[in-house]
Amino acid sequence: MTKIDNPSCFKADCKFLADVIDRIPDPIFVKDADHRWVLLNDAMVEIMKVDRDEVIGLSDYDLYGKEEADEFWRVDDLVLETGQQIENEEFFTDTMGTRHIISTKKSRYIDCKGDRFIIGTIRDISRRVEAEAKARAHLQQLAHAGRMVSIGELTSSISHSIGQPLSAITLYASGLLENPQQLDKNTQEVLARIQEQGERVKGIIDHLRILLRKGESVREPIEPASYLTHIVGFLRDTLREKAVTIELDYAKSLEEINIDPIQIEQVIINLIQNSIDALTEAQTPSPLIRLSARVSDSSLIILVNDNGPGIPAEHQQDVFEPFYTSKKNGMGIGLSICMSIVENHQGQLKLTPNKTDGCEFILTLPLAHPRA
Ligand SMILES: Nc1ncnc2c1ncn2[C@@H]1O[C@H](COP(=O)(O)OP(=O)(O)O)[C@@H](O)[C@H]1O
Ligand SMILES: [Mg+2]
Repeated sequence: MTKIDNPSCFKADCKFLADVIDRIPDPIFVKDADHRWVLLNDAMVEIMKVDRDEVIGLSDYDLYGKEEADEFWRVDDLVLETGQQIENEEFFTDTMGTRHIISTKKSRYIDCKGDRFIIGTIRDISRRVEAEAKARAHLQQLAHAGRMVSIGELTSSISHSIGQPLSAITLYASGLLENPQQLDKNTQEVLARIQEQGERVKGIIDHLRILLRKGESVREPIEPASYLTHIVGFLRDTLREKAVTIELDYAKSLEEINIDPIQIEQVIINLIQNSIDALTEAQTPSPLIRLSARVSDSSLIILVNDNGPGIPAEHQQDVFEPFYTSKKNGMGIGLSICMSIVENHQGQLKLTPNKTDGCEFILTLPLAHPRA
């Protein structure tokens, strides 16, 4: 250690110390007992984006919003009163409007005259916090994708194992029904029901197979208006049979989307089929489905809307969850499969929230050629 006995040498050392503090890469500050800024090193000036001379003598309320300044004062007071060293996470918005998440360590210093000061050091942890949030979101996406894959595998193996015995059951029933004169009326009726229910389950399994159809996901530029009209054509018979009216509300030609046409067709058919199911089940008078589409910014927005019973507020979060169904014979995987198909297309599938008159799903898909 060097002994300082020459005053001019001591002065030089003060300058030396100030320079050293300025060169410390972490932001450092000192405030007095009235919360006024007394010292800021270069790194502090840099992070606050301020002019040092203008800040000296000001308080946090002169520099920050009330919410941020309130919190700084609360912790400052605690340090000044107790002398306790405090480390906490706080936020502040610099003069350019960027919000920083910082970890601040504050301690108390009492000088030779008995005046109290707060000495603080700061670390900007915005990037780390952002990276952690991104990693968490990514993990959630992975978990979701993983769940979808296992649902896909599970359902395809269930439908595969059920398919064969089911065909056998319906075959036996129709075999017996080929000679109805040997059967009493009651047995005939029961066999007919067995056959009918067997066909139903087969229908459900076929529908599942289509939904879970594997294979390469392709991307083709598709003109939405004629594509949607073509899809509705597949459902004409069902709509007629259930006496449900469908209204188409879109321009004759819309900007192209880049999609796997078979997969997106599954999504739209599933949404319309859900509407048909809801309208039929609730015996809605004048059942109506409206399929509309329009371009907004760089997306195509497709709405599937019906005047059915809607989805109760308490279940609006549940409908996209695998195996959630309100139907006696539902599987509850339609919407979760739709969701994974749409997410694979960088699109979104949402429910219009708090709708009181029926139900509306919003499908958003990116345009093939986004507008500049
Ligand atoms: N248009 C709609 N109106 C009312 N409820 C709906 C509608 N669409 C979906 N739902 C609800 O969402 C649930 C889940 O749908 P989905 O995943 O396709 O499975 P499933 O059709 O096998 O029940 C349905 O059982 C129903 O309760
Ligand atoms: Mg469904």
